[in-house]
Amino acid sequence: MPQQSKTWLLRLLYPSNPMRKVMYDRFGDEQVLAVREQPTPTIASNQLLIQVKAASINPLDWKIYRGEMKLMSGSTFPKGVGIDFAGIVSQVGAGVTGYRSGDAVFGFLEVFTGGALAEYVVVTEATIAPKPANISFDQAAALPVTGLAALQIVDQLAAVGPGQEVLINGASGGVGLFAVQLAKQRGARVTAVAGPAGLLRATQLGADAVVDYTKQRLSQLPQRFDVIIDLSDKLAFKAARPLMKPRATFVSMLPSPLGLVGAFFHNLFSGRKHQILILKPTAAGLRVLAALTEQQLQIPVEKVYDLASVQQAYQETSQGKIKGKVVVVID
Ligand SMILES: NC(=O)c1ccc[n+]([C@@H]2O[C@H](COP(=O)([O-])OP(=O)(O)OC[C@H]3O[C@@H](n4cnc5c(N)ncnc54)[C@H](OP(=O)(O)O)[C@@H]3O)[C@@H](O)[C@H]2O)c1
Repeated sequence: MPQQSKTWLLRLLYPSNPMRKVMYDRFGDEQVLAVREQPTPTIASNQLLIQVKAASINPLDWKIYRGEMKLMSGSTFPKGVGIDFAGIVSQVGAGVTGYRSGDAVFGFLEVFTGGALAEYVVVTEATIAPKPANISFDQAAALPVTGLAALQIVDQLAAVGPGQEVLINGASGGVGLFAVQLAKQRGARVTAVAGPAGLLRATQLGADAVVDYTKQRLSQLPQRFDVIIDLSDKLAFKAARPLMKPRATFVSMLPSPLGLVGAFFHNLFSGRKHQILILKPTAAGLRVLAALTEQQLQIPVEKVYDLASVQQAYQETSQGKIKGKVVVVID
């Protein structure tokens, strides 16, 4: 059926305006992504309808639409794209107590279902928090996944504390730019590893020393670290081990079943621990991030696209052409 007839049919079936949403019907590169008209969702009594102002791009998005995580995402279609967003509460269910229509909020959707790249999303109170007034919708959308990942790594998996030597490999990316700031706030001395374009940003965010991975091998570093955080997916625990102090922690980001089992048994017998992040996003975590933005947590948004340019946004970001956080505005 031609697109115009489909739109006409949707308007007839759903008298409230249909909304635009990025969707796909098969796994593949960014060419599978399309902006489609869909009925605006309805809410149950414990839910809220959010008008999305901005959603951010995360590497998890393309790992999922390329089919690299189909064990977790399943292979049923159509699927939506995008996990974290910021917007305005449009409707509240009768059982919702903490929010009213018109409130500005930020939050996340279930990682493997996604769908934040849309004009409206449906959430519960457990996955949103009030948007801090001192940041824009673009900045708030850039915060949930990468900010919560950094918080979980720094405070829980690595328990970074004062005086520790911390190496962050991939410090100029989405998670890295928050991890650098949080580790510094916890009183650590941070060595940031990034490509040439990201070194200045890492220094601006507080890194004490920077290493350009295109010029220097990590194995040549003279110092030993209490914590090594690999955000590049390129540093294996075995390669990091010689850089670790005897009771150091290594954190990596790929929670494969085999990797998790291997790390569990390794940690039973070794002083040098291997932790793997499995993101556990919570509204409480969002509130901690919101409070941190009021204490100078910086949220640099590197580039902003509109919804119509979504394929270009994913192509450029996934090819590493843009360093740091990228946001899509839903206008
Ligand atoms: N397990 C979980 O629950 C979970 C949750 C959130 C994120 N993640 C994963 O965590 C990873 C990081 O996320 P992100 O949003 O920070 O990604 P990102 O924005 O793409 O950042 C990746 C970083 O790695 C750096 N890098 C690339 N090649 C490198 C190398 N050879 N040596 C050192 N650094 C290198 C990049 O630097 P340049 O740009 O300068 O090259 C960039 O700073 C992704 O794989 C993501 O999927 C996992």
